[in-house]
Amino acid sequence: MPPPIDNGWAARLDHAMDKAVSGQDEGLGRIAGELIRHGGKRLRPQLLFLSASLGEADEALLMHAAAAIELMHMGSLLHDDVMDGAATRRGAPSVNSLWGNARAATTGTHVLGCAMAELAHLPRDSMSAMTEAAFTVCSGQLRETEHVYDVELATDEHLEIIRMKTATLFGLPCRLGAELAGCAPGHVDALFRFGQELGIAFQLTDDLLDLVGESASLGKPTGADLRVGVFSYSVLLALRQDPGGRLAALLRHENLTAREAAEAAGLVRVSGTVDVTRKLARAYAARAAAALAELPEFPGRDALADMPRRIASRVE
Ligand code: IPE
Ligand code: IPE
Ligand code: MG
Ligand code: MG
Repeated sequence: MPPPIDNGWAARLDHAMDKAVSGQDEGLGRIAGELIRHGGKRLRPQLLFLSASLGEADEALLMHAAAAIELMHMGSLLHDDVMDGAATRRGAPSVNSLWGNARAATTGTHVLGCAMAELAHLPRDSMSAMTEAAFTVCSGQLRETEHVYDVELATDEHLEIIRMKTATLFGLPCRLGAELAGCAPGHVDALFRFGQELGIAFQLTDDLLDLVGESASLGKPTGADLRVGVFSYSVLLALRQDPGGRLAALLRHENLTAREAAEAAGLVRVSGTVDVTRKLARAYAARAAAALAELPEFPGRDALADMPRRIASRVE
């Protein structure tokens, strides 16, 4: 995916996040600061700023909201990498691989705490939306761990987990940006739906990239989901096709070797379900585009309209 559109906010956001993580604890702040410096796509702040351009918002408020959401995302990545045992993140060695799991988990908790501290600057309604979202993301992550190595996980339940753990942090910045900019409730709702559908499309493509992508260009490991028993949409569909077959036999036991994980990934790739998932991601991207089409012209609209296309094209 091309780098995010920078309307002059990216450097200010980095500064705001740096300030937020380094105030309380210098050591943890330095580790978190490294992850901030390694970048990432900054999709969630981008959604917030672009959505806010539908109305008029106070720049300082938007910056606090953007920092809070991106820090919430970063905190969840730090924890996620501990849970997945991931060696790389954002093109560099992961915090867990450099400092160990305990330090990485503590840094993740520190970053989440700093995200919450940013909320003090926001109006009460935005604060509740944010804390509710934090709870939904955590519940989604927990629900995912409850189903690891579950070869019978229903695809509907899997999509609900994706909605909770990922789409929540796409819908939230759209909704909050529009609310902070004083937009009409109908417009806030359309932007929220845009973000939610986009978030599901994004996780579906992320999961496909774990199966068919290149770790060098992604900046994080591939093949990780199967190894840790997180079965994505195409894996679940392939299991449905042949419940008693080799793939199910491989995935039913918990200590998959690297060779077995590679064999399982190969079976999924030849099953035809990667294509079905690609189409589903495209369908969610189209739903996002349709929600955006309900809105009148506004400055950020073209850049937002580009996002479903960019996300779907990650797996074309
Ligand atoms: C990674 O999100 C986590 C998922 C929801 C798949 P991003 O791909 O947006 O991560 P960064 O911020 O660009 O590193
Ligand atoms: C993580 O999903 C979603 C979060 C909410 C952190 P993934 O496990 O697919 O994220 P990556 O692939 O490690 O970035
Ligand atoms: Mg992960
Ligand atoms: Mg992933």
